[in-house]
Amino acid sequence: MILVTGGAGFIGSNFVLDWLRQSDEPVVNVDKLTYAGNLNNLAGLRDDTRHIFMHADICDGDKMQELLSTYKPTAIVHFAAESHVDRSIHGPAEFVRTNINGTFSLLEAVRTYWSQLASPDKEKFRFLHVSTDEVYGTLDPDDAPFSETTAYAPNSPYSASKAASDHLVRSYHHTYGLPTLTTNCSNNYGPYHFPEKLIPLIIANALAGKSLPIYGDGQQIRDWLYVGDHCVAIRRVLEAGKPGETYNIGGWNEKANLDVVHTLCDMLDALQPNVVGTSYREQITYVTDRPGHDRRYAIDARKIERELGWRPAETFDSGIRKTVQWYLDNQAWVGDVQSGAYLKWVDKNYKQRKSSSDAQETA
Ligand code: NAD
Ligand code: DAU
Repeated sequence: MILVTGGAGFIGSNFVLDWLRQSDEPVVNVDKLTYAGNLNNLAGLRDDTRHIFMHADICDGDKMQELLSTYKPTAIVHFAAESHVDRSIHGPAEFVRTNINGTFSLLEAVRTYWSQLASPDKEKFRFLHVSTDEVYGTLDPDDAPFSETTAYAPNSPYSASKAASDHLVRSYHHTYGLPTLTTNCSNNYGPYHFPEKLIPLIIANALAGKSLPIYGDGQQIRDWLYVGDHCVAIRRVLEAGKPGETYNIGGWNEKANLDVVHTLCDMLDALQPNVVGTSYREQITYVTDRPGHDRRYAIDARKIERELGWRPAETFDSGIRKTVQWYLDNQAWVGDVQSGAYLKWVDKNYKQRKSSSDAQETA
């Protein structure tokens, strides 16, 4: 069996669902169930004995050790993290705790477990660390996309904590020989995406008749990767990646935030028109920018294509269509996660942002 951390979150739950659709190999799913962890994402596996859920914190090294000796996984896929940049600006401590100390505790437990494995299990074992393109910092418009050899230059407490975890993983391979794999991917989108992030936030706010907050001028660029494509890429790296290597995973879909929001509004206008007959675009509001906001991310995903034969199957158009339709079909899921804690976060993050809508909407 394999052990997944953070498998109740956005990408982790998509991965667990996808894994069990493709394979009979059971999954032990270790998750602390923070605000971002949601067992409803895994409701389809309620009666599936191949899914074993363990409510635990990766910072608890003894617990990790116990789970490893009990379940004897052949591989770990490590998703668990604090993942939202804006939250890391308001409260970086939790990011240092989970992303750095948690990864360290997990690595220590895994090192002990792995060092006691006998051949050939020891050689076949893999520790796959899921990281982000944000560790590379920001790009100017004409810069080449991030490659696996781009120097690290993280700019937010979130990306700095992920960079630190990447370095720890690297060191456990070089120092102890642990068979690690690291993947650095771009912005995922798709089902079960928590509505604090741009795409699900815009869909949820639009349908609720709320404003659609655009940070700064909305010309920041992200590369968008459909989560299903990401899951396929992770499985491919797990089966054929070379220990010690890192692989960039991207969607070849660079888009400015404002263009993404316009696409979402136009799709919703067609699929679920506003009752008052206006376009959802009219709800767009420009607000104070994110401090230290990275201007552009872009991924050069040629290494994983060349060496492992992976390329994304979805275009942005096909992926965003599936995503919008999923949110329209699953509005109860969105309603459930917009609990008291979520409302407090919205208040904290958006109340202090000044609106500059009138000046920029006409630009
Ligand atoms: P998420 O915030 O949706 O989910 C994180 C999960 O980890 C949650 O289920 C949460 O309960 C769990 N968790 C948090 N702290 C934990 C702890 N101490 N112990 C055990 N579980 C804990 O995140 P996501 O968007 O699914 O991202 C998953 C991974 O992928 C993260 O490592 C993130 O840095 C990375 N990543 C995400 C994106 C993206 O676009 N979402 C892009 C690149 C990389
Ligand atoms: O690049 C990979 C990263 O993508 C992951 O490592 C992170 O875990 C993930 O959260 C994501 O980070 P971003 O900061 O790029 O995602 P977010 O959805 O928060 O924001 C996307 C862009 O939209 C960013 O430029 C900020 C902007 N934005 C975001 C929100 C929430 C807005 O303009 N308005 C908003 O309300």
